[in-house]
Amino acid sequence: MNIPHIPVLLEEVLDGFSSIKEGYFVDCTLGYAGHSEAMLKTYPQIKHIGIDRDDEALDFSKKRLAPFDDRSTLYKGTFATTLPTLKERPITGLLADFGVSSLQLDKMDRGFSFESETLDMRMDATAALSAYDVVNHYNQAQLEYILNHYGEVRSYRKVAAAIIEARRYAEITSGKELADIISTVIPRGGKIHPATLSFQGIRIEVNNELGEIEGLLDVLEEKFKAGELNGAIVSLITFHSLEDRLVKNRYKKWATACICDAEAIRCTCGKNHELGKMLVRKPITATKGELKINARSRSAKLRTFIFKG
Ligand SMILES: C[S@@+](CC[C@H](N)C(=O)[O-])C[C@H]1O[C@@H](n2cnc3c(N)ncnc32)[C@H](O)[C@@H]1O
Repeated sequence: MNIPHIPVLLEEVLDGFSSIKEGYFVDCTLGYAGHSEAMLKTYPQIKHIGIDRDDEALDFSKKRLAPFDDRSTLYKGTFATTLPTLKERPITGLLADFGVSSLQLDKMDRGFSFESETLDMRMDATAALSAYDVVNHYNQAQLEYILNHYGEVRSYRKVAAAIIEARRYAEITSGKELADIISTVIPRGGKIHPATLSFQGIRIEVNNELGEIEGLLDVLEEKFKAGELNGAIVSLITFHSLEDRLVKNRYKKWATACICDAEAIRCTCGKNHELGKMLVRKPITATKGELKINARSRSAKLRTFIFKG
């Protein structure tokens, strides 16, 4: 089986779940099942649930995980909407390895690439909104917003203006065309393609990536408060500061015992409101050895939270 994606921080992820004795391990971003297969092999006592919104990834992983199908179930959907519908109990571990897979990025017909002949970028190829819609139908203010907030593109106004100007003449229908338009206003410098951050911003908008992460964190909080995640271990892997900030801030909130007003002179809340603790304060990042074999691990940050038992 030719495996199109190398899982990041694999040893570190496996280590983080070593204390799980039973129950369901949920992989919210199944992808090509690299993490899931290793979890199933390493921990024969766990049952597995895999979620992905991408049919191609699910088809591949169904075959890869066939040897484990007596203890593995796969669901299609986004994690923020699928997790609340799961009936399996207890959930004792949960992993999300956010962002796109190598195959999604590299397969030209998925329209994520600077070289692609299409402009798509949907992780779920049946979803309503594609990059084509964003690029051809968003107004200047909307384009500026996503380029600025989701791409952190410094010249976001110029890029939005160049897109609006180009589409006055003809629709923009390929990643190649879009990359060329952006390259007219952002000079090429260094190894990184000038359109990298703009493509990131558009991809995040198309897939509601930040909304999904917030949704997942909300569901986890609700499930814990409903008594469904006692002692559960949650490991989340982010790839850029926008994602990492959401995870870091929520973990901090969950780990805070005192909920008194910051201005309060004395604590009156009982100082016992923490939902659990962070495994380590600083995120875990790739070792030099991993960096050598997997460029994608360069920006990966793993943060683990353990809910109270
Ligand atoms: C980085 S890859 C995961 C790779 C996987 N850990 C492996 O070892 O093969 C991310 C996967 O998550 C999926 N994904 C991203 N956001 C999602 C969401 N909100 N809901 C469901 N799946 C999502 C993508 O379709 C992609 O297949």
